[in-house]
This record gives sequence, C-alpha cells and structure tokens, in this order.
Amino acid sequence: MQNDSFLRACRGERPERTPIWLMRQAGRYLPEYREVRARVSFEELCRTPSLCAEVTVQPIDRLGVDAAILFSDILVVFDALGVDVRFEPSPVIATPVRTEADLARLRWADPRDACSYVYEAVRACKAALGGRVPLIGFCGAPFTTLSYLVEGKTSREFEHVKGLMFCQPGLFGQLMERLTDLLITYLGGQVAAGADALQIFDSWAGALAPDDYREHVLPHTARLVAAVRQLGVPVILFTRGNSNLLSLSSELPADVVGVDWTIDLARAIDVVGPHRVVQGNLDPLALLGPAALVEQKARAIVAAGRRARAHVFNLGHGISRHTDPAIARLLVDTVHAA
Ligand code: CP3
Repeated sequence: MQNDSFLRACRGERPERTPIWLMRQAGRYLPEYREVRARVSFEELCRTPSLCAEVTVQPIDRLGVDAAILFSDILVVFDALGVDVRFEPSPVIATPVRTEADLARLRWADPRDACSYVYEAVRACKAALGGRVPLIGFCGAPFTTLSYLVEGKTSREFEHVKGLMFCQPGLFGQLMERLTDLLITYLGGQVAAGADALQIFDSWAGALAPDDYREHVLPHTARLVAAVRQLGVPVILFTRGNSNLLSLSSELPADVVGVDWTIDLARAIDVVGPHRVVQGNLDPLALLGPAALVEQKARAIVAAGRRARAHVFNLGHGISRHTDPAIARLLVDTVHAA
C-alpha cells in the first residue's frame, strides 16, 4: 500500500500527517459523478462494478484523501431479502415489513449470491486503486438497516420501528438477530473480496433513548462488531445523531469510534477515553462557509484529536451536495499540513 496512513491510524499509530477521508466523498457535489449519473440511475450505478470503481476513485484523484470508500449503498443488501428499494434519491421501499406475515415473505438469500455485484465492485475498486490508498467496505448497522425495512423510507419519528420495538419486542429482536447474521456474512464477503477496513453506519440509532438503545440495539450491534473484528481488518463504528449514546456505543470493541458533529471532539475523547482511536467530526455544512473558516475549524479539530490515541479526520456526517470541490480539497490540504 503506497499510502497506509489511514490503516496505521486505525490501528492506533500516529502517522506523520493526520489521515482524512470524507463520508459520501463520491457523490453529487462532484461534476464527474453527476456526469456518470446523467447516463445511469443510482440503482444501475450500484449494480455496475466498473462504474462503481470509476466513481470510487474520483475523489482520490481530486481531493487527495487517504482512503477510498466503496461506492454502494447500505440498502442494496435488501436484494438478499427480495425487498425492492428505489432511490428518488431518498430511499423508498414499496413493501415495508411490519407484520409476521410480511416477515414470512422475506427471502434471506446468501448476500454473496444476491449481492454478487457488490463483491465484484470491491474487486474492481481494488484494481482501479492499484494500491494507492486502502478501500473501506461498509454496511448499515442492524438498527439503521431495520429502520429502513420497517419505515420504508427515511423517517422523522420512527413510529413504525419504535412501535415494533415497544409493542412486539420478540419480533423486533428476531428481525435484528437475522439482519445481524445477514450483515456478518455481507461484510465477510467484502473483506474476502479485498476490503481493507470496514465502517458500520448506525445513522439512525440517535433516534433512540439511551436505555432503549442499550436494551434493544446494543447487543446486536455488539455481535456484529465482534464478529467482523475477527476478519482481521480495522472496524469503524459510526453512531450518529445522539452524542449521549457515545458512552454506550464506545463500549463495543470497534477499532475506531466514529464521532458525529453534534459534540466537540475534545469532549468526545473525554467520553470514550484517550486510549481510543476516534474519527471525525467537522459539521459537513461548515464546508459551505468561507475558506478561512474551514481552515480554522479543521485546525481546531486536528488539535483536539491529538489528545486521542490516534485520529482519522472526517466530517461528522456525509458531505453536502452543495459543497464546492475546491473547498473539500482545501480541507484535505489543511488537515495534512496541520
Ligand atoms: O460515502 C461514499 O462516498 C460511499 C457511498 C455511500 C452512499 N450511501 C452513496 C449514496 C454510502 C457509504 C452510503 C451510506 C448510506 N446510505 C447511509 C449511511 C450514511 C448516512 O448518510 O447516514 C444511509 C442512511 C443511506 C441511505 C440513503 N441512500 C439515503 C438517505 C440516500 C439519499 C441521500 C441523498 O443525499 O439524497 C441514499 C442515496 C445515495 N447513496 C446517494 C449516494 C451518492 C445519492 C444518490 C444519487 O446519486 O442520486
């Protein structure tokens, strides 16, 4: 690997430059991505390994980031369940799963067959990267994945999935259990195909009260993290939306604790302890501000991160489609120079 600073930081080392990558770094803020998307739908893009590789590499060339993330989506794993998702561009599932009868209709195929294009995409990305930077594979955490399956879309209130959790905890637990098994196999296949690290996105865990997270979600996420850590690549757990969960989620044995932008990084390091590796956490919308502000905020986060065992710089959530790519490049250069 020509640039292994990201992997070294994940393992707790302190490379000369703070490594950086950006969540959603391949996406609509890049004109070269929009050019590909003018020709194919998002669904088709995710299922065309050569195009996945093309857009995965775009931000490496343009921004100079220290890691690539597989171009895909957390919801393509629903191909293994026989559940159809449309991206408009927000995800929409025509047939959400809410009852025992809905559950009985799920297919539970092996994702290595049903999502074979994901593994081909991993191999195509590795070939296109040619050892320049590591490739991050990913999945949604069990709760975030289940939220989409039950709500059928990005939800505000999460009334259906919380209703299931509170009213039918047995059925909720059964679904979480089976999704966790599916995700363990799904990520195992990504590592077998060549992924150098994994990130688990718990984007919606922040919708839960800490007690409910601890009781209904943490055990499943813990099983997923523990299982995939056996694969021998670093595992990042990104739990978003409620920094009160950080003390709980950081109990899990992930190598890297992903920190969202709702908490000062210094405070997050106090919570998780200075022996942990942290990733984060600039508010993505700060990139819409002037260059001087971006530089100042980036340097402050790098400085705060020095108190952690190691720090991978990232945004505290996905990059906005309204970001100027030149500002994203400025962020990367500022972090590298800090
Ligand atoms: O980070 C990367 O560059 C890799 C690709 C990636 C995408 N989605 C591409 C995408 C990754 C890692 C994801 C993860 C994902 N997908 C999450 C977890 C991260 C988070 O944002 O919290 C979630 C919740 C999803 C579900 C999803 N897919 C949503 C909510 C949307 C709509 C978002 C939007 O910006 O409109 C998608 C669609 C999607 N996934 C797009 C991209 C680039 C936009 C599709 C397009 O090109 O039109």
